[in-house]
Amino acid sequence: GAIGKDGYRHFMEKELHEHPLVIGQTLQRMIDPATRRVVMPDLPFDLAAIPRITMTACGSAFYAGLIGRYWLEAEARIPVDGDVASELRYREPPLAKDGLALLISQSGETADTLAALRSLRQAGQHVMSVLNVSESTMARESDVVLDTVAGPEICVASTKAFTAQLSVLACLAIAFGRARGSMNESREEELVQALLDLPGRAAELFALQPAIQQAAAMVADARDVLYLGRGSQFPVALEGALKLKEISYIHAEAYAAGEMKHGPIALIDRNVPIVASVPSGRLFEKTASNLQEARARGGRLLCFTDQAGASRLGPLAEQVIALPDVHDFVAPILHSIAVQMLAYEVALLKGTDVDQPRNLAKSVTVE
Ligand code: G6P
Repeated sequence: GAIGKDGYRHFMEKELHEHPLVIGQTLQRMIDPATRRVVMPDLPFDLAAIPRITMTACGSAFYAGLIGRYWLEAEARIPVDGDVASELRYREPPLAKDGLALLISQSGETADTLAALRSLRQAGQHVMSVLNVSESTMARESDVVLDTVAGPEICVASTKAFTAQLSVLACLAIAFGRARGSMNESREEELVQALLDLPGRAAELFALQPAIQQAAAMVADARDVLYLGRGSQFPVALEGALKLKEISYIHAEAYAAGEMKHGPIALIDRNVPIVASVPSGRLFEKTASNLQEARARGGRLLCFTDQAGASRLGPLAEQVIALPDVHDFVAPILHSIAVQMLAYEVALLKGTDVDQPRNLAKSVTVE
């Protein structure tokens, strides 16, 4: 039958609330409950023999891939190159022999991603796709498909498919880490535990909805918004800015927090709210000092952090939203949900057509 909104105001709101379920279902597909180890489907190639990965996708799926790149490089020590699909094909990057093409797509039908898949295959790469539609064109043309178990996503702007993609990519990094001998068993156990804790932590996020709603008022009247993050939180900033543009029509730009001083800092004044994703952890101090610079120039800060980070950012920021504490590894997954929730609340204030934003299509089948 037809899919309904189940009492939610928009499909986007419903799909945001499906994050915990979808993350859990997707992990169930990739983590053996008995051994608590990541399991991969049968592969027509040896993971350990892959010298290099070329990742490509469009839109939010590309940002999921950028977060995946941090995991694959840091945890599995495998080099990952990547670009949006519409650019990658025409860049003619030199490819490693027996390299892996990693494609990410909710629909499995996006024309640019499909064309990139075909050209990477043509160039002799193994083809692995992370897809939400298992009977899609990309699924048929891939050597291996890793399923995101997000169910149908109706809202044009992607939400739950994004965190499902991240769940798969996190598991892929663990599988690569083990295959390459760059991750020991205790690290694998630690990361698997962090992932299995995630559905519970994600469910706790909805208690923050009133705080996010209040923070949305800080953003809704702005003409421009700057999103900042470092490390694996930089792609979270990209996703947050994209979501805001897509559904609220407010111009937003994402920057690596450390790069802000090389340009965007010139734009900062009281009229440009800054949304920062800054969990406590390795990059906390560095990001906080970047935010201090913004504050000193009159910037109004809205910070997404965690319990430990909240007390330290309190004096700096106009709004601090403390997410549940999680392992650093999975923090970008939780923070992605938070920036999506913010975009949704801003769109509500603006009264836009949240599920069907102007000029956008759910699946873009032209190049
Ligand atoms: C469109 C949608 C985005 C999506 C992108 C890639 O632009 O509006 O939400 O991220 O396509 O779609 P895909 O199906 O390949 O993930």
